[in-house]
Amino acid sequence: MLICHCNLITEKEIEQTIRSLLAADPWGLIVPAKVYHALQKRGRCCGCFPNVVETIIRVTEDFHRELGEEAAESVTFLDRVRGLRRQHEGNNEGRQKGHRAA
Ligand code: FES
Repeated sequence: MLICHCNLITEKEIEQTIRSLLAADPWGLIVPAKVYHALQKRGRCCGCFPNVVETIIRVTEDFHRELGEEAAESVTFLDRVRGLRRQHEGNNEGRQKGHRAA
């Protein structure tokens, strides 16, 4: 499945890149720009970034689950990150509902 239409990046490519970043540093902070940099790509419209963040969370959870139970704490942390994302979902950067730029 294609995640980034601007750069033609598939979900599989993103997952593989996240796994290679986690293999190099299991506790490193992974953000979309880091993934794209590893792929030698750049965000253009960045409309894919919310999906990339979800993929980062999912793959990181799976990676740490595969490491063993002592990593369960990281999964709790990622649940909190996901909760914050939901809380701010639809946040229109402080604009009032019905605001139109043009
Ligand atoms: S869809 Fe990924 S940068 Fe535009």
